[in-house]
Amino acid sequence: MISVTVLFNLLQALGGILGLLESATDSQVKLKIMPLGDSITAITCWRTLLWDTLRDANLTDYIQFVGSSTSNAGACIGTGPGTWDHHHEGHGGYTAVDIADNNQVGWLGAARPDVVMFMLGTNDVTHGHSTAAIIDAYTRMVGLMRDSKPGVNIIVDLVIPLAVGNAGVVELNAAILPWAKALNSTDSPIYVADTNTGFTDADEVDGVHPNANGDRKIAGCLYPILRQIIDQSCEAGDAVGCLAGGLEGVEDVTE
Ligand SMILES: *[C@@H]1O[C@H](CO)[C@@H](O)[C@H](O)[C@H]1NC(C)=O
Ligand SMILES: *[C@@H]1O[C@H](CO)[C@@H](O)[C@H](O)[C@H]1NC(C)=O
Repeated sequence: MISVTVLFNLLQALGGILGLLESATDSQVKLKIMPLGDSITAITCWRTLLWDTLRDANLTDYIQFVGSSTSNAGACIGTGPGTWDHHHEGHGGYTAVDIADNNQVGWLGAARPDVVMFMLGTNDVTHGHSTAAIIDAYTRMVGLMRDSKPGVNIIVDLVIPLAVGNAGVVELNAAILPWAKALNSTDSPIYVADTNTGFTDADEVDGVHPNANGDRKIAGCLYPILRQIIDQSCEAGDAVGCLAGGLEGVEDVTE
């Protein structure tokens, strides 16, 4: 008969082995990338185009998009074999202020992203939130992202133009780069994606949301930044398998 003590020791040993297995699995997880935003993230097709570009570069084995939603309101169709990863955290009508106050903790806790890329502020501007209030929300969001994962990489998009009431967008965009530089850190870099320069009303469907042209511009702007992050994560061993997958020594496309 097995004694209680022996059984206890066995269970403890088993727990240790499971713990080891778990940490081995942890080190092999894919790089988790969260597209975060409002309807410009939720109902458009730039995520699909971005995924297609990453797949064409043979990177999609090592990454995943994360977020609580898999909606595809834009009925976006990828161009290549296999499907694109529908996960995202885009929420139509949401403001940066609301997300910082109410949603960020839960969303981050559920997905634990390594990379967060967000465009937010359009709804804040239309609700009359000041640039200072929006930037303050960004700061709280970045703090919560770093609480969730100290080494998180953050990509902040400049906001695309509004056909009506664009002054608030212009003012916010002017504040984003100095804000990002001030909060930047080696451990948790913040990159600003200039998704505004050269983006006109002709790239939008309704004066707010990108059309196919606008989707291409946003995806094209995000790709080199994301590529750099993926390459660095690959070299650091955070996205295991990519070195064996042939990514070792790839050119840094941002250079
Ligand atoms: C991706 O992988 C395929 C199959 O291994 C290869 O033919 C192709 O050249 C690779 N593309 C790039 C951009 O590395
Ligand atoms: C933040 O630092 C990284 C290097 O760690 C750099 O590549 C990036 O451009 C910096 N971001 C800003 C907004 O200057």
